[in-house]
Amino acid sequence: MVLLSAWSLYRPTGMPPGPRGFPVVGSLFSLTANIHLDFIKLGKKYGGIFTIKLGSNLAVVLNDYELIKEALVKKPTDFAGRPRTLSGEILTEGCKDIAQSDYNSTWKLHRKIAHQAIRAYASGEKLERLVHEQAFPPLQEALEESDGKPLQMKQLFMLTVNNVLGKLCFGHGLTLEDPEFKATVQIFDDYSETVGKGLIADVLPFMKYIPMKATDDLVRISEQAFAPWRTKFMEHKEKYDKDNIKDLTDYLIQEQKKAVEEGVGDIEKLTDTHLVQTIVDVYGAGIGSTKETMNWSVVYMVRYPDVQTKVAMEIDDVVGRDRLPLLSDRSKLPYYDAVIHELMRIRTVLPLAVPTKL
Ligand code: HEM
Repeated sequence: MVLLSAWSLYRPTGMPPGPRGFPVVGSLFSLTANIHLDFIKLGKKYGGIFTIKLGSNLAVVLNDYELIKEALVKKPTDFAGRPRTLSGEILTEGCKDIAQSDYNSTWKLHRKIAHQAIRAYASGEKLERLVHEQAFPPLQEALEESDGKPLQMKQLFMLTVNNVLGKLCFGHGLTLEDPEFKATVQIFDDYSETVGKGLIADVLPFMKYIPMKATDDLVRISEQAFAPWRTKFMEHKEKYDKDNIKDLTDYLIQEQKKAVEEGVGDIEKLTDTHLVQTIVDVYGAGIGSTKETMNWSVVYMVRYPDVQTKVAMEIDDVVGRDRLPLLSDRSKLPYYDAVIHELMRIRTVLPLAVPTKL
């Protein structure tokens, strides 16, 4: 026990300062549900970079703008790796996605292909068309129908973001009444709740050998969540037409077929599981972050009506009421741009970013 305790408290020399914590669990029990606020407090004591033991994981926390910029912007490939966790492995079917996988040639290939597909179907004018055609009409319809009465925006934001991503990934959107949309909402809520709880084995890896309900729940919910995406992927594969590549899924299948035809070593990196995981990443990472930011925007606009009026006046002045905003209007809407930045700062949806590994 003494040796185990000493080993669990060991830190290599040269690590930044930080709380010592307790044997085995480290500082896990001194953290609250608002870990980002705990880290701000620890930053006041230990500075912009400190070390903290989270169970068996020795983590270095960057708590300073310049340091974060150096790590994530100036040296992105040094910090592109991800630590392996049990949840990560379950959710990515063995680290076959982009967001949670380590930095290696498979990751680079998938990231490159996903970027190319997003550039091809959701950048510039194509992004504007996606938003104008998929997000705007359901909002406009709901506002007209509400006739000035209070309106619940949550479902509508889920629908609009779902439709933009649905069109990008699979070439179609849904309506509020669609059974498929209702099922998507239910799956997304269950998935977010289960994933949000995490697994004790993520911080104490030896616990993965002990059967736990939380692990079984995560396996079950990820199976449920991936099934519809897998079905849509297979439908796309059956109907694939190389002369009509219309969405991100077609694009990924095209790259898979090219690798098979050319017989290159990329074949084993472009399995169906890898491609479905890329779609899950784009869809999953896009939905929660964007809809929550939109939900908060309404809360703050209601809370600060003077800001709401100034934003509306600026949009009226620059864009007018005869057309929808374009990306090129952004530089002419400095107040609105600042309000969005402030909103993402004060109600950041990912306050800790995603952990990286050297
Ligand atoms: C308000 C909206 C959003 C916020 C705040 C947000 C935030 C983030 C953050 C903090 C990361 C981790 C970056 C890193 O560790 O380097 C990330 C990764 C990612 N996001 Fe978003 N995101 C948003 C919208 C979207 C949308 C709309 C999409 C899809 C179209 C998307 C897809 C992804 C993907 C695929 C990754 C993984 C990238 C990688 O690991 O290389 N996100 N996002």
